[in-house]
Amino acid sequence: MDFTNLLVEIRDRILYITINRESKLNALNKVTLVELHHAITHSFHNEAVGGLIITGAGQKAFVAGADISEFADLNTDEGRALAREGQRKVFDVIQNSEKPIIAAINGFALGGGLELAMACHIRVAATTAKMGLPEVSLGIIPGYGGTQRLSQLIGRGRALEMILTAEMVSATEAYRTGLVNHVTEPELIISKSEELLKKIMSRSPSAVACAIRAVNANYIEGENGFETEISEFSNCFGSLDFNEGVAAFLEKRKAEFTGK
Ligand code: COA
Repeated sequence: MDFTNLLVEIRDRILYITINRESKLNALNKVTLVELHHAITHSFHNEAVGGLIITGAGQKAFVAGADISEFADLNTDEGRALAREGQRKVFDVIQNSEKPIIAAINGFALGGGLELAMACHIRVAATTAKMGLPEVSLGIIPGYGGTQRLSQLIGRGRALEMILTAEMVSATEAYRTGLVNHVTEPELIISKSEELLKKIMSRSPSAVACAIRAVNANYIEGENGFETEISEFSNCFGSLDFNEGVAAFLEKRKAEFTGK
């Protein structure tokens, strides 16, 4: 597929997705969301891809939010559809991806931009990054999972303060509160993300997928995460990766996982 607003390339089994609307600070318009859905879901069936890195074009912004110009005239039904469609087709798809996804936050991550980063499994931020959920200053609230994922990552009190004040936080503050996993100099965010992703990709892909499902189960209403863990744990014993991982350990060699 040809993309208008994304740069997409595979190198060394990593799919790099760069949101490429620099003149609009990479704001997420409808076309970009559709393209993100396609790029990410297609990677699930592509054996050449072991993990993904999402970043923004340029030095200034990761993503400065949903495209405000596109929702200026929406009514309540259209607002509901926008949030539901976005959550299901992009943000939940990222969170539930069985391939690890890292957000490399190279600048402003605001509103839908921070929500995009929070849906990813791991976040690496540049020292220059600024993050926030400024929606209440526009008369709306976060709609792409921000009220839920921010509370999950940094706790209810801190999340409420960020959401209700609409203030941005620095990368240092985001690191202190657990909103991001790592902070690096701006020119190092991709290499730090690659280092993490390559480490994960050297492990059993099928066990990594089981671990993501088990961790995510805690956040699925009505699901008992401990039961999911038991079930995913038991599934591992039926995998070729398990046979290989144990054999490699006993034979004192590096495991050659296939993800099967
Ligand atoms: N939606 C649509 N366009 C956006 C945008 C968004 N979320 N964020 C930035 N842009 C556009 C601006 O309209 C401007 O376009 P123009 O040059 O055609 O006028 C361009 O990106 C550059 O932004 P600008 O505001 O001039 O840059 P700045 O350095 O003065 O300010 C921000 C940077 C991030 C502080 C500011 O752009 C901003 O507050 N953006 C909106 C953030 C937001 O509320 N996001 C949540 C949306 S729900």
